[in-house]
Amino acid sequence: MSANRPAAVVVLAAGGGTRMKSATPKVLHELCGRSLVGHVLAAADELEPEHLVVVVGHAREQVTAHLAATHPAARTAVQETQNGTGHAVRTALESLGGTVDGTVVVVCGDTPLLTGGTLRALADVHTADGNAVTVLTAEVPDATGYGRIVRDGASGAVTAIVEHKDASETQRAVREINSGVFAFDGRLLAEALGKVRTDNSQGEEYLTDVLGILREAGHRAGACVAADHREIAGINNRVQLAEARRALNDRLLERAMLAGVTVVDPATTWVDVTVAFEQDVVVHPGTQLLGATRLAEGAEVGPNTRLTGTAVGAGARVDNTVALDAEVGPGATVGPFAYLRPGTRLGAGAKIGTYVETKNASIGEGTKVPHLSYVGDATIGDHTNIGAASVFVNYDGESKHHTTIGSHCKTGSDNMFVAPVTVGDGAYTAAGSVITKDVPPGSLAVARGQQRNIDGWVARKRPGSAAAKAAEAASREPAGES
Ligand code: UD1
Ligand code: CA
Repeated sequence: MSANRPAAVVVLAAGGGTRMKSATPKVLHELCGRSLVGHVLAAADELEPEHLVVVVGHAREQVTAHLAATHPAARTAVQETQNGTGHAVRTALESLGGTVDGTVVVVCGDTPLLTGGTLRALADVHTADGNAVTVLTAEVPDATGYGRIVRDGASGAVTAIVEHKDASETQRAVREINSGVFAFDGRLLAEALGKVRTDNSQGEEYLTDVLGILREAGHRAGACVAADHREIAGINNRVQLAEARRALNDRLLERAMLAGVTVVDPATTWVDVTVAFEQDVVVHPGTQLLGATRLAEGAEVGPNTRLTGTAVGAGARVDNTVALDAEVGPGATVGPFAYLRPGTRLGAGAKIGTYVETKNASIGEGTKVPHLSYVGDATIGDHTNIGAASVFVNYDGESKHHTTIGSHCKTGSDNMFVAPVTVGDGAYTAAGSVITKDVPPGSLAVARGQQRNIDGWVARKRPGSAAAKAAEAASREPAGES
């Protein structure tokens, strides 16, 4: 694999991206969990280049900061003014000392569907044919705006690339286009870039002119036709961004399905490139799986669920749930209508039911929080049952405090656990209790007002009312009957 490592991959990302109409630089727009340029860099990484250079210019502070945070192996070269793709590559080579021995691959930062496999195919053709330049081309249904590939009528050899704006009518009829991806001999590239002129309709240094220059100097130029033209689609506006997101999502889901995942409705299922699936996972409609989410064998998620950075154990069931940085143990069940916030860890076979929110909470094996509860900053042991409508009162207005509940506990409905507080193993608490003091193991805690019944109150205070009549009728019935 690394036998044919390029000396450098240069990613062009200095352009303005005006058609995105955005405060965010074009190459930082997101699809499937990565920026546009992040996808290009991931493909470039598969070539294992010695140097990875991103040419930045427009909004370079933002782009540079993003690269430092997400892809520190990439170095940047600053193109002060955007004088064309040829000038951009010249800037990259200058940052590497002027020339580079070996193969230099150039890609645009706005082609997120490009795969490492296609880049590899280009580099392999380039090396095998001993070319000075090899361009990745594609046959597209609509070539408008792209540079056209001009081939020799007799030999079929590539002779030049002509930009759409500079092309004649006959050239515009050509449907084979320049993808903007090239492999070059590094030394010959540097020489040829010195000869690129700006006498074209845009007054720019075109990288595409290098091909004609090298050919005229007697060097070999070749082309590699992309197997799938959709891979080379460049993103210039948000319509294209949405189309690319859909295409990449389809590709990711197809890969998952072929690996044994059931996706009930691919049209409403969205996944990031970083999601990992095991066999026999089932994904129901309306589900978003984001970040480093992992679904173990036989897990079933959705419908209408968003999991971000969440690990779901084998055979677990997560229904109508939002979860962020949570862990769901094997065989556990969550939802419908649950919200698992960061630091939630559910043990094997645990249950989080309906209208339950958890945060920074370790919930043991087989433990259940079935209904209408908030569990924040807590440790709960194994096989404990938390009654309906319980709140772990963790915040005193200044700091958060922890609640610990043991194993095999049964806490009553409508309990408040006022942290910090501990309930020992095997303890019970009465319904409606506000637990402010530790409960020793095995005790029953009752913490609520005594009930008082005031006889005849309705007859005195609500005379003649329906309630008073019902009470009177009830009082006439012989005692002991119902
Ligand atoms: C370019 C090609 C065209 C090809 C098309 C494929 C040239 C002259 N034309 O056209 O043949 O069909 O890509 O999508 O190369 N950039 C810089 N610095 C600059 C100018 C551009 O970094 O000074 C970057 C842009 O950010 C972008 C890439 O280079 O990522 C391509 O530039 P763009 O202006 O989009 O070129 P196209 O007109 O699309
Ligand atoms: Ca473009």
